[in-house]
Amino acid sequence: MGTALPAGKLTNFDLEKRIDTTNEWILDRTGISERRVATDDETTDVLATAAGAEAIKASGIDPELIDLLIVATITPPQKLPATSAFVQDNLGLACGAFDLVAACSGFVYSVVMADSLIKTGGARAALVIGAETLHTMVDPMDRGTVILFGDGAAAGVMVPSAPAYGVLGSDIGCDGSLANILYVPPGAEFVQMDGKAVFRGAVRACVQSATTALERAGIKGEEIDVFVPHQANTRIIDAIVERAGLDNARTVKNLDKYGNTSAASIPLALAEAQPNDGDLVLLCGFGAGMTWASAVIRWGTGL
Ligand code: UT7
Repeated sequence: MGTALPAGKLTNFDLEKRIDTTNEWILDRTGISERRVATDDETTDVLATAAGAEAIKASGIDPELIDLLIVATITPPQKLPATSAFVQDNLGLACGAFDLVAACSGFVYSVVMADSLIKTGGARAALVIGAETLHTMVDPMDRGTVILFGDGAAAGVMVPSAPAYGVLGSDIGCDGSLANILYVPPGAEFVQMDGKAVFRGAVRACVQSATTALERAGIKGEEIDVFVPHQANTRIIDAIVERAGLDNARTVKNLDKYGNTSAASIPLALAEAQPNDGDLVLLCGFGAGMTWASAVIRWGTGL
């Protein structure tokens, strides 16, 4: 795996000076202390390239084996072409490349897509990246959203594995009737959110999705060694852990440092967690759409 985080920081204390809020309120309601903010030069493709390059280096794989590049993002630097085209060129890859738009579920969706293509012989290896510059989508004066979101990128290289390793079970879903609880209205610049509705939907969707993925993998919640939920709100994570029968001590949380980085949040937390070979890992994301996605992974290749 590889990560790329802009150096610029926006702390709760910085926000206290800008909007009507306090460090205590933000910490208490979300668990977030600070987030990273990209400069104008650190566009999504730039962050994605840096994370991707680090992942390829860490994997030790010959880049010529990478037949697929997926960049999960909702903050592309331009409408056309896809962000993945720039990232592919920057990394000197020769492969199929596309962007995947499933908001905060985007990285897990990408893992599921890449896994399927590798298993059916369509790709020898895949580079999957979650990358966002969410500050471009958030009203800097809206206290309901600006406290939550941050910028960053993280990437992973996926390769074939023995049957007992890799993605053992997964679930992807979407309920488009909830599109308007988290969206950018047509013609508008910034995101609008019904925070309470997203909170409720997130807990419900994640518990159901994680349960489905676990069932499909034939794994029980208590067997999971590393649970990597989408890093949106520590209270959402706590509710999912409790209702899905998972273990708080084995749950990864790094949102205090980075806030909610949408498609980058799960791979950033996964990269920091550094699972051991053979660990059972559960990824679970939810986001605008409303989308959700879960994957149960036996870490390593077993080969
Ligand atoms: O990837 C998915 C992205 N989105 C999410 O994950 C969002 C999920 N939702 C949440 O995380 C929470 O709903 C929030 C953190 C956004 C809000 O927390 P809440 O506990 O649902 O608070 P609330 O919206 O019910 O607001 C409670 C009070 C309100 O005041 P009144 O009406 O009780 O007088 C708000 O106006 O807190 C006020 N408030 C704030 N106060 C200080 C709202 N935002 C702030 C703020 N600072 N930044």
